[in-house]
Amino acid sequence: MYVCLCKGVSDKAIRQAVEDGARSWREVREQTGCGTQCGKCACMGKTITRDAVARELVSGADLAYAV
Ligand code: FES
Repeated sequence: MYVCLCKGVSDKAIRQAVEDGARSWREVREQTGCGTQCGKCACMGKTITRDAVARELVSGADLAYAV
């Protein structure tokens, strides 16, 4: 789904930015442009970013404890 209509950024693009190494809303904004025009998508963008980062950290933790 589109999160940011101004810049045409989807939730998938935000999750991809996190997979590619972004770990904060600021980094996601810089990589995708989400929230950099009217700003109405910022709340949703932050929520998706937080969820994606949490998922990345959990999956990384799983790898750290794998035997
Ligand atoms: S909808 Fe994202 S900056 Fe306008």
